[in-house]
Amino acid sequence: MRLQTLVSGLLALASFAAAGMVKRAALAQVTNFGPNTSGAKMFIYVPDKLAANPPIVVAIHYCSGTAQAYYSGSPYARLADMHGFIVIYPESPYSGTCWDVSSTASLTHDGGANSNSIANMVTWTIAQYKADSSRVFVTGTSSGAMMTNVLAATYPGMFAAASVYAGVPAGCFYTGTVNGWNSSCATGASIHTQAEWTSTALRMYPGYTGPRPKMLINHGSADTTIYPQNFNETLKQWAGVFGYTYGSPQQTLAGNPSAVWTKYVYGPNLVGVYGTGITHNIPINGDQDMAWFGITGSSPTSTAVTTATSAITATTLVTSAQTSTSAAATTTPAPGGCSAARWAQCGGNGYAGCTACASPWTCKYSNDWYSQCL
Ligand SMILES: *[C@@H]1O[C@H](CO)[C@@H](O)[C@H](O)[C@H]1NC(C)=O
Ligand SMILES: *[C@@H]1O[C@H](CO)[C@@H](O)[C@H](O)[C@H]1NC(C)=O
Ligand SMILES: *[C@@H]1O[C@H](CO)[C@@H](O)[C@H](O)[C@H]1NC(C)=O
Repeated sequence: MRLQTLVSGLLALASFAAAGMVKRAALAQVTNFGPNTSGAKMFIYVPDKLAANPPIVVAIHYCSGTAQAYYSGSPYARLADMHGFIVIYPESPYSGTCWDVSSTASLTHDGGANSNSIANMVTWTIAQYKADSSRVFVTGTSSGAMMTNVLAATYPGMFAAASVYAGVPAGCFYTGTVNGWNSSCATGASIHTQAEWTSTALRMYPGYTGPRPKMLINHGSADTTIYPQNFNETLKQWAGVFGYTYGSPQQTLAGNPSAVWTKYVYGPNLVGVYGTGITHNIPINGDQDMAWFGITGSSPTSTAVTTATSAITATTLVTSAQTSTSAAATTTPAPGGCSAARWAQCGGNGYAGCTACASPWTCKYSNDWYSQCL
């Protein structure tokens, strides 16, 4: 009798658990998050099992991306299910959906442009969900990575840590226009000293003396959309802000977290992760980000060790796209017949590479300087 009760109880539990696993929270739009001068859209993912005082991860899409695309193509929602944090997916209001990382307004604290709209999404979410304001993180890919650097400079007190995938230094994309494209920066021709990049970042919030997010800078050596020089320039910028020396990382960890990657550890506030042969289709290392944010693990060096095997191979934007990109990167395209991988550049003024995209991706116009395989 008692056994029977126990068994049926277990069965009930099992079916409840199964139902719980099938049911999954959904991406939802928020339309009342506060001042939104730039018209950016806000989407949010709140997992079913929300932590008490949950952390927040702001995850920012690439050009031609959407909140929905980054929600399904990046690992953060799945990680939110595991760890109970909230993900905010902002969406660019511009055709081509790049972010405004070029206007004076967006490059200024409370300047009222995209950076301010995203900051207001964070403020709204903290209030609405009693989120932990000391554990707000930001990450993004390509244009979203550029915005990540811009947010770190314009709202340094809001974020505890940032992870940047194929971005440029804050201010490097300056054109003085809204949603401009700075090809000098994109092609790695905007080269400045550590002191110059540092003052570019500090000028975005004059007089600010509080804490700043620690920065994880990820880039690939074979990136022909946002040239790899931007890795070096971004490290100069944050090295200066944190009082490190760009040319002298404390540690250089080759083969970390896996064979093609080298990690440059400047100190607790700055780590660069450089991938040999990695293109603009850079994989998101979700496990590494979780450790960097302090959601799992602790220090940058233990992060390096604990993520050594699993992350890069397991957590990619799209595993198959990554494989085809690696192949594309090492193969000289046949004359007249080549194809660019997903997320690779496929057109734009001054662009001389492949204009066809690998199946099933198509070349989508983003702006006069940039079309992308999506
Ligand atoms: C922000 O602007 C977008 C686009 O106009 C709109 O969809 C959204 O509702 C606005 N949100 C707020 C809070 O004003
Ligand atoms: C791009 O930024 C550089 C400074 O890094 C600036 O000299 C150049 O004029 C900018 N390009 C455009 C198109 O505004
Ligand atoms: C940029 O950094 C990478 C990784 O450390 C290095 O291999 C490369 O030589 C650097 N480029 C320049 C121009 O210093």
